[in-house]
Amino acid sequence: MDSGKFPESFAWGAATAAYQIEGGWDADGKGLSIWDSFTHQGGDRVFKNQTGDVACGSYTLWEEDLKCIKQLGLTHYRFSLSWSRLLPDGTTGFINQKGVNYYNKLIDSLLEMKVTPLVTLYHFDTPQAIEDQGGWNSENTVAIFEQYAKFCYSTFGDRVKLWITINEPHVVSKFSYEEGLFAPGNKELGFGAYRSAHNMLKAHAKAWHAYNNFFRDKQKGFVSIALNSDWAEPLDPNSLADKEATERYLTFNLQWFAKPIFIDGDYPTVMKSEISRKSKEEGLTTSRLPEFTNEEKTMIKGTADFFCLNYYTTRKIRPLTSTVSEPSFNSDMGAEGIKDPEWPESGVEWLCVVPWGLRKLLAYIKHTFGNPDIYITENGFAQSDPPILQDTHRWGYFQETLKEVLKAIRQDGANVKGYFAWSLLDNFEWTSGYNVRFGLFHVDFDQPSLPRTPYFSANEFAKVVKGNKLICN
Ligand code: GAL
Repeated sequence: MDSGKFPESFAWGAATAAYQIEGGWDADGKGLSIWDSFTHQGGDRVFKNQTGDVACGSYTLWEEDLKCIKQLGLTHYRFSLSWSRLLPDGTTGFINQKGVNYYNKLIDSLLEMKVTPLVTLYHFDTPQAIEDQGGWNSENTVAIFEQYAKFCYSTFGDRVKLWITINEPHVVSKFSYEEGLFAPGNKELGFGAYRSAHNMLKAHAKAWHAYNNFFRDKQKGFVSIALNSDWAEPLDPNSLADKEATERYLTFNLQWFAKPIFIDGDYPTVMKSEISRKSKEEGLTTSRLPEFTNEEKTMIKGTADFFCLNYYTTRKIRPLTSTVSEPSFNSDMGAEGIKDPEWPESGVEWLCVVPWGLRKLLAYIKHTFGNPDIYITENGFAQSDPPILQDTHRWGYFQETLKEVLKAIRQDGANVKGYFAWSLLDNFEWTSGYNVRFGLFHVDFDQPSLPRTPYFSANEFAKVVKGNKLICN
């Protein structure tokens, strides 16, 4: 029972995203993305006004990344396509062949190494030209995204069989369009998150149907969406208010997207009723949460071939204590997350290490969404700068987490099919710049050749991958 063995053909991967690693921000005809514009504007929205202009240099140093993948012995590699590298203005009106060549080389080389690519179409980096027309605030982006998806399937789908349409729509909607912390820096409390999420859900569904209708028979692949969620526990397990707040927290985080996609095409009832009630009180004639038509509900329902979960941390929940007069996503949710001081922090203030939270979340997904196949498409721990190569404590966090994944599989019967560490390399960690290091490989950003060096965690992870087994001590 405790041999630490993972199921046969378990997918072992590491993940990256285009803007975080590629650099080459204007190389070979690439169009601007919103992260190029956002970082170039300065204004201290990013740590030390750092940018992804160079990042890990993977646009030219991709073979160095392949060496890392090989050293880890991965069966899978998750990376994202830079939309504006392929389609500089976001539309298929002009295709940047050099961008296509870049990803062709990467995909072909992975396949030669017998590494299966898992490709994300969109990981936060909207083409600036699309943002200029409204980005995810605009319904027009739905059809434009569908075109982009079709372009990617027809260009790479003969070789890529695992697709993720959108990475973390929750983060995009909340950070980019509600709170304005991430590019494009749109702050519109109470509206921005819901509007952008609405368009992303439709865009995802259209992209899934495009695959299903026009590509699946021939290409025989699978399409999903990567959803992030914390696990949540009531702050006081005996308090009804805390328990209800906990349910609302999971609903506003995970069910917001997972219920429409995995269950019935529509938003959770509590979100619909709460936001509509509050909107009325605010004197609005329609709810701040947009509604799907019946046709759209039918279109959205069932549009994921497996469940992709990005998990990092857990929170203890109580009802929102601060009284905010302005409407906002947070006040609609009416819940706030507290960090337990006993949980260790990993490299960055929001990431408390709670391995058992992942097990609970996996069981919750199994029960709530019809026991889907689950890929953990991101999980990891950071070090703050300067990091240490001998990161034994961090490997301890990985080990504890993998133990919980095993329990979820064996004891709870969750269909976990794979685990992707975030991240292959230290990289541009959004507003934290290079100050937060999530890599299995260290990157020396001070040297022009950007050398990659394995952390202790990388060497230990490679042993797990090789044996398909966790060596427990
Ligand atoms: C996720 C995101 C990644 C990475 C990670 C660590 O939200 O998809 O790009 O930054 O968090 O913070």
